[in-house]
Amino acid sequence: MDNSSPSLLRLRLAAMLAIGFCASIPIARSTDSAPLMENDLMPVPAQLRFSPGRLRVTETFAVAVGGHDDARLQAAISRALRRWEARTALKLDRVAVASAASATLVIDSREAGHSIPSIDEDESYTLDITASKATLRAPNVVGVLRGLETLLQLLNRDADGFFLPVVSIHDRPRFAWRGLMIDVARHWQPIDVIKRNLDGMALVKLNVLHLHLTDDQGFRIESRTHPELQSSGSDGHYFTQDQIRDIIAYAQARGIRVVPEFDLPGHATSWVVSHPELASLPGPYAIERHWGVFNPVLDPTNEALYRLLDDFLGEMAQLFPDACIHIGGDENNGVQWNASPRIQAFIREHGLKDNAGLHAWFNRRLSAILARHGKTLIGWDEVLHPDLPQPAIIHSWRGPESLAAAARQGYRGILSNGYYIDLIHPASEHYLNDPLPATTTLTIEEQRRVLGGEATMWSEWVTPATIDSRIWPRTAAIAERLWSPREVCDVNDMYRRLAVVSVRLEEVGLDGERQHGFMVRHLAGEQAAAEDVKALLTLADIIEPVKDYRRGGLQPGVVQSDPLTNLADCARPDSAAARSFAESVNRFLFQPGQLDRVQAAKIVQQLEIWNAAGRKVAGRPAGTAPALNETASVAQALAEISVVGQDAMQALLSGHAPDGRWVIQCRAQLHRATEPGPAAVEFPIVPSLELLVAAAAEQDQRSSLAPEAWRQHLRAIAFPPAPPTS
Ligand code: ACM
Repeated sequence: MDNSSPSLLRLRLAAMLAIGFCASIPIARSTDSAPLMENDLMPVPAQLRFSPGRLRVTETFAVAVGGHDDARLQAAISRALRRWEARTALKLDRVAVASAASATLVIDSREAGHSIPSIDEDESYTLDITASKATLRAPNVVGVLRGLETLLQLLNRDADGFFLPVVSIHDRPRFAWRGLMIDVARHWQPIDVIKRNLDGMALVKLNVLHLHLTDDQGFRIESRTHPELQSSGSDGHYFTQDQIRDIIAYAQARGIRVVPEFDLPGHATSWVVSHPELASLPGPYAIERHWGVFNPVLDPTNEALYRLLDDFLGEMAQLFPDACIHIGGDENNGVQWNASPRIQAFIREHGLKDNAGLHAWFNRRLSAILARHGKTLIGWDEVLHPDLPQPAIIHSWRGPESLAAAARQGYRGILSNGYYIDLIHPASEHYLNDPLPATTTLTIEEQRRVLGGEATMWSEWVTPATIDSRIWPRTAAIAERLWSPREVCDVNDMYRRLAVVSVRLEEVGLDGERQHGFMVRHLAGEQAAAEDVKALLTLADIIEPVKDYRRGGLQPGVVQSDPLTNLADCARPDSAAARSFAESVNRFLFQPGQLDRVQAAKIVQQLEIWNAAGRKVAGRPAGTAPALNETASVAQALAEISVVGQDAMQALLSGHAPDGRWVIQCRAQLHRATEPGPAAVEFPIVPSLELLVAAAAEQDQRSSLAPEAWRQHLRAIAFPPAPPTS
């Protein structure tokens, strides 16, 4: 989150790419020679065995509840059948039938599960589908909820209609804490955003919604003991307590915990708007409108602060039933504490050594307040300090080292480093980021303290109109990392299934795809002709927003109130079009034997489409839609780099290597395209184009090199190591 020093995170993310060996998916397959179902499930279950046969799903499909029954279970059955109805256009009986004998699906659980979703919940289930019946068994209703999501994902169709494959599944999560954090402070995210994301979470078996409720830019929760906090700190955008109860009930119905975060003592500007006397330096203070790390920090030496925190946290402890309260604790830059002689004197008088000692002292006070209200403290990894009282949970964001350090020191921990979805990295990186990689040096006991992880959706650059496409579908890949066995890590297979789950996420109301279309039409302007919109869609699909926190540097004037409706907001992370192009290029260049003419045709056609779209968007008078100004130069760049690709293909297909000057020009052109301008977007196809250029230039060597040597030769030329920076 630190705009000024994103390099740390970038280094971490690069290191993650190096995460090592990855075995193939342990899915047991029948030895029968009949074609079996392809596993589309996400997350992949712990054990899965398909067998030949299909259970037909028709309008006679009926559900019976065998064991424990309750309102949560009935509501889940009703929701599940409703989703199937929408998918199949069949009219299904949404109420459970009495007799297991006449039912197609029998659900059998022993008990309700915890009334407040908890980390100790047993989420396991078994699902047995034969050609005549499906049976879902679980120790409690939460296991049934997880199993129902699997069942919903198994529905498939063939020429005879809808069916469930014959399958036997034994499933349980690898990690108990599988979360999504949504920052509602930077850009307000109202209740419908939260609810549809809870549905998405349930679909991929995530079980913790972490709401980042307060930050410099907003105080987003109603306090009844201190209403001045939200009335001065929120611009009127906050959750009322009734809305929070609604969210908690919605989450509970789906077996999801809701953990609130109140960021303390830094990131606290919105607190001190109404309470300047609690800041470390005199105010006045106003809600922060920019992004970054700011100076206002609460004054831990002021006893009035603890009285307010006791009131407020006591009130929140009542409102949020979860066992944990997150107190933030990150990124106190120390500026105000250093500038206050009184605070520095306090540090000396109490033998606290330095600011870190004072922070630890503050956390001890907070921990005692939370304990009095029956809550466990969780904080970002800056709170890890020898003085931190147990029990506490360390939320690792700066690197996996803090997770390991916490575990070694006896603290439980969760990982978010590597799951920062706001950094716009591809799903593959997040997917290979394991809280407990095979190379871990933690003992078994220490490993048990690693509870899981959370995807983090910081909201500097998202509004309710773009947040879904930033969270999904990549978070489904993270959900799989946290649920499925470690060995399930085949990236290609993950992407294949991610495309399927992405459509299913729409079924529960997640809007990424629709919002994308809307944003592009909006950018094109209401007078745009259909082919102009289509060209802009083509462009938007082949660019990505810049990664890490580069957008702030490229668009420095943007503040909280600016509409995020530019080209970068139309673009989405992890472009599927770019991935598909990369796959074609790889097959074309690296398949042993002759060049693959089918792939060649695909590549040539794709480059022509991009070139035409680029020229069309670039050539359109921007006056009709001023936001198109910055788009035009991006479109022009697309047209130009497409030509580079076209020339390279022509050289390859004709068998005539181009001269050195052409290569230099192409590389320069591609290099320019990697330097994002004010539009703050990048072209993920550039690496594929670099490969094509290298292949065109080096083609005379192909016949003399073994396939792997050819691949390495091209990669070495296309991606030379960066010169050392002194
Ligand atoms: C954080 O990103 N500052 C927790």
